[in-house]
Amino acid sequence: MTAASVAKFGRVGVLYGGTSSEREVSLQSGEAVYQALLNAGVEVVALDLQQDPISAIQQAQIDRAFIALHGPGGEDGAIQALLTIMGIGYTGSGVQASALAMDKLKTKYVLQALAIPTPPFAVLSADSDWVAVMNKLGGAAMVKPAHEGSSIGMSKVHSAAELQQAYQMASQYDRAVFAEALITGAEYTVAILGGQSLPAIKLETDNAFYDYDAKYISNETRYLCPCGLSGEPAERLQSLALASFQALDCRGWGRVDFMADSDGNFFVLEVNTVPGMTSHSLVPMAAKAVGLSFDELCVKILELID
Ligand SMILES: Nc1ncnc2c1ncn2[C@@H]1O[C@H](COP(=O)(O)OP(=O)(O)O)[C@@H](O)[C@H]1O
Ligand SMILES: [Mg+2]
Repeated sequence: MTAASVAKFGRVGVLYGGTSSEREVSLQSGEAVYQALLNAGVEVVALDLQQDPISAIQQAQIDRAFIALHGPGGEDGAIQALLTIMGIGYTGSGVQASALAMDKLKTKYVLQALAIPTPPFAVLSADSDWVAVMNKLGGAAMVKPAHEGSSIGMSKVHSAAELQQAYQMASQYDRAVFAEALITGAEYTVAILGGQSLPAIKLETDNAFYDYDAKYISNETRYLCPCGLSGEPAERLQSLALASFQALDCRGWGRVDFMADSDGNFFVLEVNTVPGMTSHSLVPMAAKAVGLSFDELCVKILELID
């Protein structure tokens, strides 16, 4: 990449930090993206949107935005709407797809309608029949706030009493909380870049699930790419990822998370429209498998702005 070939991007603002509970992760993603674009010769400024995002974006006089914000306020369509109104092109999905993907429950309704497999689930409220929910979901479940990321507020439960406790914990984060049938096989994630699935990554952790610690702190989490699947299952996983991405009308880049059951059936957990972008994150790992360096990946994501 020469300075001339990236001049077309103009002045690029890396939007990062923000105020969501994923702020710390976003600070790391933003710093890594900023450094990568600098290495590639892009004229770039880093904007931590912790306070007054409108003034920060206006004053920076940017031509394009690389959104490296995770969670509500940055990944959910709000910043996308602001940039749309300001006439500034931005990386990744638009307003509607961002808002939909941020809501794991609404995402499941769309996937279900299109016959894309997602685990059975039940919406929870303070007066749920905890025993009936556990029976419906087969005796083991994951409880999730609908709008959080990074495994925040989530827990694995095996009884009606645990379900009720987990609901109370999750409802501190979100008024929409649901329980999903526990799927007990392997875990995979598939990155999407420019309308194509990248090679799947298999995730292995000794924790109870791929929780905050397994994601960002532990050195014990194992990432396998190639993921050990080939032939029909590998193709099926990649095509389910792309179908999910398209079902929500996502654009540019993203990542789709899956669990497999013991028979090898795949279930979509969620679609991430601004996945982690630190040098050891999953999308960069998948990009590396097709020969794209982290710097090249960041430039490619900018090129995909339409
Ligand atoms: N239905 C499920 N069965 C088994 N494990 C699950 C299930 N849902 C989530 N998990 C585990 O929890 C992790 C986080 O769930 P996910 O829905 O991807 O939310 P997020 O990554 O936004 O926090 C997954 O990576 C997986 O390890
Ligand atoms: Mg996930």
